[in-house]
Amino acid sequence: MRTQVAIVGAGPAGLVLAHLLARQGIESVVLESRSRAYVEARVRAGVLEQGTVDLLCSTGVGERLMREGLVHHGINLLFDGAAHRIPLTELTGRVIMVYGQQEVVKDLIRARLEAGGQIIFEAEAVAIEEMTSERPRVRYRQNGVEAVLEADFVAGCDGFWGVCRPSIPVGVLTVYDKQYPFAWLGILAQTPPAGPEVMYAHNERGFALHSMRSPQISRLYLQCEPDESLDAWPDDRIWEELGLRLASGGHPLTPGPILEKGVTAMRSYVVEPMQHGRLFLAGDAAHIVPPTGAKGMNLAIADVKVLAEAMIGWYQAGRTDLLDGYSEACLRRVWRAEHFSWWMTSMLHRFPGDDAGFDQRIQLSQLRYVVSSHAAATSLAENYVGLESV
Ligand code: FAD
Ligand code: DHB
Repeated sequence: MRTQVAIVGAGPAGLVLAHLLARQGIESVVLESRSRAYVEARVRAGVLEQGTVDLLCSTGVGERLMREGLVHHGINLLFDGAAHRIPLTELTGRVIMVYGQQEVVKDLIRARLEAGGQIIFEAEAVAIEEMTSERPRVRYRQNGVEAVLEADFVAGCDGFWGVCRPSIPVGVLTVYDKQYPFAWLGILAQTPPAGPEVMYAHNERGFALHSMRSPQISRLYLQCEPDESLDAWPDDRIWEELGLRLASGGHPLTPGPILEKGVTAMRSYVVEPMQHGRLFLAGDAAHIVPPTGAKGMNLAIADVKVLAEAMIGWYQAGRTDLLDGYSEACLRRVWRAEHFSWWMTSMLHRFPGDDAGFDQRIQLSQLRYVVSSHAAATSLAENYVGLESV
């Protein structure tokens, strides 16, 4: 099989790329190792920056997002026994939208298939070959049978555990990696959100986060051990712990049925460059941020916007400069998000070994400064809603 752009992975990066290319008449085939039902049910991030919303809306896949997404004008930081609001819109003129990642994925899959696009589910890429030639190819396996997809370019949108990044020869990439000594236990629960806005709680028992998906569905997270077993967390214990950590939000939680639970590791990771020959990495395949800044999905989509423009430049005007500059163009935004996500993580979590409470006092001082200084609050806000230029 042959196409113009072979895209590995039907997450936000791969699907947005296929969509943007198709709008310019560029053909692609998306290979996805999981089933359609699986990727459409996978609960992950939920905060869209305004730039992400604008991109989806201006390219015709924002209709349900505008109908069902929840527009937020602020977030709350909980510490010192009280909630402190960061008025995002007042400080930046921009908003964020709360809308589940799997809803974005559903909208994109439907749009691609309705437009006659090809997404092959349950097709696992096993190797990327000839990436420095003009005919790179993806070897993949479907129903136990191996096949080859040949293309002009390969887009590695296969997430952190995919095959694209490890296919690049040793020595080409420089890896920057930092792991944190905690994880998040996340739940999706059938209960109305306890408050109207996202709440990030600094607490001596550990970090907690309150978010939502709809007026009936809440999304909550709590800091846990990196190797935490879900067996140790029956529903009652989760609700009790969330209640304690989020108490200063001033809105008591109403425990409801837990629809989904999972543990997410916390990591900062970047490879440079994000390309080799005709293989281009985008999204989690090239970088990971800890979720405290709500940046992962937004970064993935920002990468493929740059990549789509570079490929369109090549197909329509024979330009190679945009492709050559892809990695550099993305990495400025990537590192900004890396710093912001690391900073939010460092400010809000309980660090093991902080027995004398030094780290905690530093964090509280930072938090008090962030909510009392207009300059510091604006710095947080402009990073949170997403910087237009970096
Ligand atoms: P992905 O969404 O990971 O998509 C990659 C796709 O490639 C997947 O569908 C995968 O099945 C497929 N794939 C992998 N290997 C192959 C292969 N060999 N062949 C074919 N297909 C393959 N961010 C937040 O901001 N807040 C959160 O709460 C949050 N929670 C998260 C929870 C989890 C468990 C994870 C993993 C991530 C979370 N993130 C969160 C991060 C955010 O969801 C990611 O940054 C985002 O999904 C990146 O999109 P992507 O398209 O680059 O990768
Ligand atoms: C959500 C996830 C995040 O990582 C975050 O920082 C804020 C909100 C969410 O799932 O809604």
